[in-house]
Amino acid sequence: MKALTLALTVLIAIAFVGSAMAVMSGKTIEFAGGDQGKVVFNGKTHADKGNKCPDCHPKLFGPMAPHKERIKITKADHVPEKFCGTCHDGKKAFAQDEANCVKCHKK
Ligand code: HEC
Ligand code: HEC
Ligand code: HEC
Repeated sequence: MKALTLALTVLIAIAFVGSAMAVMSGKTIEFAGGDQGKVVFNGKTHADKGNKCPDCHPKLFGPMAPHKERIKITKADHVPEKFCGTCHDGKKAFAQDEANCVKCHKK
């Protein structure tokens, strides 16, 4: 009986991870973005550019599981070593500078 419960738990865990995997690459994540305008992060365009799950999870954006609330990113976090700026540094991807605010923030 114990073994059956364990086997079921493992199966459910695998099914859960599997559906989470399927979700992200086709998913968009919306940040409110304040006065600057909302930011839509597109999982598919990022996957198409070759970004893999571990490039972003869990180090930059927490675990690969539904989040109760969005991570809080401030203007002061718009630096090369944090969150989106880890890649959006003007080398790996367009920088978080005046020319590019509107590439992420839409009013
Ligand atoms: C690579 C994408 C990206 C670029 C480029 C970018 N931002 Fe952001 N910015 C974000 C994200 C994501 C957030 C988080 C929004 C939230 O938490 O609601 C954010 C948040 C902010 C906030 C805080 C909003 C709040 O509610 O506290 C300000 C202010 C801001 N950005 C200004 C700017 C300005 C000015 C520029 C251009 C110089 C810029 N951003 C460029 C992605 C970007
Ligand atoms: C380029 C960066 C990046 C990559 C690559 C990436 N993610 Fe994410 N992921 C994010 C961001 C940003 C969030 C939103 C974080 C937050 O809640 O504020 C997120 C959130 C999630 C969530 C929670 C969604 C929700 O609605 O709460 C899951 C699940 C997830 N990612 C799974 C994955 C999986 C699986 C992969 C690989 C197929 C992946 N992610 C690849 C950046 C990325
Ligand atoms: C692991 C690296 C990585 C991280 C982290 C990352 N990006 Fe990107 N992003 C890229 C690459 C690579 C491109 C394509 C190259 C370019 O456009 O300069 C891109 C392109 C984009 C684009 C243009 C294509 C589109 O989807 O419309 C937007 C907008 C964008 N990123 C927003 C964000 C936001 C918002 C975050 C943080 C929540 C973020 N990115 C975090 C690597 C990353």
